[in-house]
Amino acid sequence: MAKRRPLAVDAAGPEHRWSQIIQSLEEGVVGIDEQGRIVSMNQAAEQLTACSQAAARGRPHRQIFAESAWVSDMIEAACRGDRRSVSAQGSILGLWQKPMPVRATASAILDSAARLTGAALILHDLTLQRDLENDVRRAQSLAQLGVVVAGLAHEIRNPLGGIRGAMQLLAAEIGPNPAAGEYVELVLREVDRLSKLCAQLLELAPRGSFTAQPVNIHRVIDHVIALVAETAERQHVRIQRFFDPSLPEVSGDPDALTQLLLNLAQNALQALAGLPAGAPAQLRFTTRVETDYHLAPPPAARPHVRGRLLRIDVEDTGPGMPPHVKQHLFSPFFTTKPKGTGLGLAICQRIVSDHGGTIRFESEPGRTLFRITLPAWAAAPAAARDPS
Ligand SMILES: Nc1ncnc2c1ncn2[C@@H]1O[C@H](COP(=O)(O)OP(=O)(O)OP(=O)(O)O)[C@@H](O)[C@H]1O
Ligand SMILES: [Mg+2]
Repeated sequence: MAKRRPLAVDAAGPEHRWSQIIQSLEEGVVGIDEQGRIVSMNQAAEQLTACSQAAARGRPHRQIFAESAWVSDMIEAACRGDRRSVSAQGSILGLWQKPMPVRATASAILDSAARLTGAALILHDLTLQRDLENDVRRAQSLAQLGVVVAGLAHEIRNPLGGIRGAMQLLAAEIGPNPAAGEYVELVLREVDRLSKLCAQLLELAPRGSFTAQPVNIHRVIDHVIALVAETAERQHVRIQRFFDPSLPEVSGDPDALTQLLLNLAQNALQALAGLPAGAPAQLRFTTRVETDYHLAPPPAARPHVRGRLLRIDVEDTGPGMPPHVKQHLFSPFFTTKPKGTGLGLAICQRIVSDHGGTIRFESEPGRTLFRITLPAWAAAPAAARDPS
């Protein structure tokens, strides 16, 4: 959510204070006169409609909501007195013509003689709520798929071990025979490829509970950087760290968190490899304590996870993703790489949701950002600690 301008210190009487309260609301508030013209807008309404109060004042609400006629229909229904107050959900066009999901409530304003003097419109931004609902839906369908796929992978992996062993015995039986040796090698190579795929598919299964411990995420990032340093150097990629020194520890599983950040770093390096020679190639890790915060409740299995969150950004200066890639991101098996499995981000999503966190992305030409929020470790009374 966009940041609000700081408010001036209360200087004069109750009206000024009232106006300060309206200005500081998270909800957009729009005042409309009896002619249907805009008279006032608070900061949140200006942000949601991408229109300043100065530009909107005196103009008919139908003009301001020209692309979202449902809002004006509601205002008029409230003014006609069909109902005192009318609510509906839909989208309005925000900045850069971006559709913003909102819940709108229009209420008629009457004077003491019950004459209509105008209307008030309240706009409640549903973006965050929709994002969280999408996260939950995505995590649930991934969890269901993960159980099935991991079950299959488990069944396939065992006979693969048998095939590998039998093949090695057969090779010993055949003895030196270049033609047969080539076939044996081919079978072994493909068996190994399938085994690796099975191991990745098993990673899709939700873990449910794991032994959460306080994890220093800066150490995890340093470890990941060490793992990719050689590739980065070969590709002339500059790796930067912007660490918040006051960052608390994460509540989590260090191996899973390493895998999460390694997958993201590898994707970034692979994207940067596609840049034309000489273009600045950077991979940046930024950490900070999350302040603007709302999140799904912590997993019941980990009651020591309370409230505080931290944020890890993994950002690259690669070519970015076209819309069709963004649309399918996080779907298992979606890949644009000839040798990719398309499981990397699905596994990232699984790890983040196991930790009770969120993962989001933004991508445009020249910049791709993955933003992870994770619960901070909070020391709990011994009895409340994770028993696992
Ligand atoms: N930082 C990034 N920049 C541009 N595109 C990206 C980035 N990260 C992911 N993608 C896109 O998302 C797709 C899916 O990524 P994901 O990690 O799930 O699978 P993959 O990298 O293709 O395969 P694997 O991870 O199994 O090697 C990638 O193929 C790529 O098109
Ligand atoms: Mg990947």
